[in-house]
Amino acid sequence: MKLTLGEFRESARARLEPPVWDFLEGGAGEEKTVAANVEAFDRVRLRPRILRGGGDPDPAVKILGRTWDVPVGIAPLAFQTLAHPLGEVATAQGTAAAARVPVVVSTFAGRPFEEIAAAADVPLWLQVYCLRDRSVTRAVVERAQAAGFEALVLTADTPHLGRRLRDLRNGFRLPEGVGPANLPGSGFTDPAAHARAELAPDLDWSVIDWLRSVSSLPILVKGVLSDADAVCAVEAGVDGIVVSNHGGRQLDGAPGTLDVLPEVAAAVAGRVPILLDGGVRRGRDVLAALALGADAVLLGRPVLHGLATGGAEGVTDVLTVLLAEVTETMALAGVRTIADVGPELVRAAPAGP
Ligand code: FNR
Repeated sequence: MKLTLGEFRESARARLEPPVWDFLEGGAGEEKTVAANVEAFDRVRLRPRILRGGGDPDPAVKILGRTWDVPVGIAPLAFQTLAHPLGEVATAQGTAAAARVPVVVSTFAGRPFEEIAAAADVPLWLQVYCLRDRSVTRAVVERAQAAGFEALVLTADTPHLGRRLRDLRNGFRLPEGVGPANLPGSGFTDPAAHARAELAPDLDWSVIDWLRSVSSLPILVKGVLSDADAVCAVEAGVDGIVVSNHGGRQLDGAPGTLDVLPEVAAAVAGRVPILLDGGVRRGRDVLAALALGADAVLLGRPVLHGLATGGAEGVTDVLTVLLAEVTETMALAGVRTIADVGPELVRAAPAGP
């Protein structure tokens, strides 16, 4: 029995071919930002309150008009068929069995949107990469919307693909049978070369208007790491913000997401919901992010660890462990509902020797 998300990580590492493990787990450059995400959570201490009455914790939240059973959604992760043949289908099924929370599906999903939507009763959001050829992006958005997807998450931190040294050293190529299932007419085996050739390098905030012109779905922007960009996003009329450094896969040297969250939250001032991803590995990390200004978090690599360990069931198991930790942390910290979670819950650890 696995009791922590770290144990799923070790099990996934043992099951996957080393180049596939490196692609899923790695980051850009020296992976300083990969580490910074985790370290930022490690520095936090939670100060419990006592004798506050209450009762069993209720971790539900409402975001964009929808109730989430717990403030943990699933981050967009490309090519999940690398971790398990059923890929995104298993992720959606495994999530649905654990909790009603959104699953964000990558533009580079390995399974067709329609198949994912048919497989599980769980809200699906589309992660949008805006390609040089807008007609392709438009077709992807329309396809997802027709399949019943409920929101768009524009990834804005990828004008150029981060330099992922593990993949360069391994000469990483997608294995036979793994590819983008929702991009019309395109098959490729070198995902980095494809991204460099196809991702639009010249986007500005007018892309939000363009997305609004092709879809009626709510639009979130992913990749915000500063108060300045949070203000731009709100002014551009987005429906939500995802504080993210792409799990350390883009700009190596970018700060840990939790470290910039308070300034982003101050700039947004409650005008739109804030999600955060990067380095969430324990229930207490979820509470720390909420205390510092997030409305919910998204879980990235641990989902792939569950998928590699046991397909849909593995994803359910990962989420079940994390969700148990969330409610246990709430009970021990003296917070009964998510509305009770505020900045006073968090205390930074003193700088160590
Ligand atoms: C990603 N991420 C990502 N983001 C995105 O917007 N579109 C995508 O297609 C992908 N693909 C992807 C693949 C893999 C293998 C990883 C590890 C990550 C980034 C992802 O959505 C998220 O920002 C981070 O993974 C969150 O950090 P943790 O939880 O992995 O630390």
